Amino acid sequence: ILKLPTAAEVNEVGADLITSLVQTKPNAVLGLATGSTPVGIYQELIRAYQRGLVSFKQVKAFNLDEYIGLPATHSQSYAYFMKEQLFNHIDIDPEQTNIPNGTAADPHEEGKRYDALLESVGNIDLQILGIGHNGHIGFNEPSPALVSGTHVVELAEQTREANARFFEDKSQVPTHALTMGVGSILKAKTILLVAKGADKANIVHRALTGPITTECPASLLQTHPHLIVLL
Ligand code: GLP
Repeated sequence: ILKLPTAAEVNEVGADLITSLVQTKPNAVLGLATGSTPVGIYQELIRAYQRGLVSFKQVKAFNLDEYIGLPATHSQSYAYFMKEQLFNHIDIDPEQTNIPNGTAADPHEEGKRYDALLESVGNIDLQILGIGHNGHIGFNEPSPALVSGTHVVELAEQTREANARFFEDKSQVPTHALTMGVGSILKAKTILLVAKGADKANIVHRALTGPITTECPASLLQTHPHLIVLL
């Protein structure tokens, strides 16, 4: 657990971990996240790429989640977000960037397809995670039981409220999403959990020191043998 005084330092350390991995393993499999938290890390990665320190040509990327019903062209889809915030600015092969398809005719089948794809590349080398105020990771919301693989979830009201800031109003926020399950997340060789700001302090404390419970999905990260937390 690394507590750093500023968000800028979190971004630098987070990006350094990723660039070091890709420098030593150019065909690394990266698990990527959306939300506001990783944006600064992505900006540092773009800078490292522009300075010639790292190439993402052989990297494979898998994103955690996507809203159901938003096409990749929608400005609030996570597919669009990833292009805007990272993929369009580095040399990653677009064919090697994977995000669950939020407009698949059968979202349940799409979850299975995504898991098979993940399986085919072996384990994710490094998974970046943010954390929701309710302890969600990806879109795995607090619940009496959690699902292991990629699946459809109904978003918690708190999550839709938190994400309404990106839409015209809350009614525009999709009600469902496709998310990698906690099982898939925990299979990653290394997990990098990032949280910034005082408003995340309580939930981070609960996740890392509280009981391991599906009512706080991030608490399952306590079971991971190689978890790095950047605060
Ligand atoms: C979103 C995403 C999560 C993210 C979280 C926190 O809804 N599905 O992957 O970690 O909420 O977002 P933020 O980083 O903006 O606080």
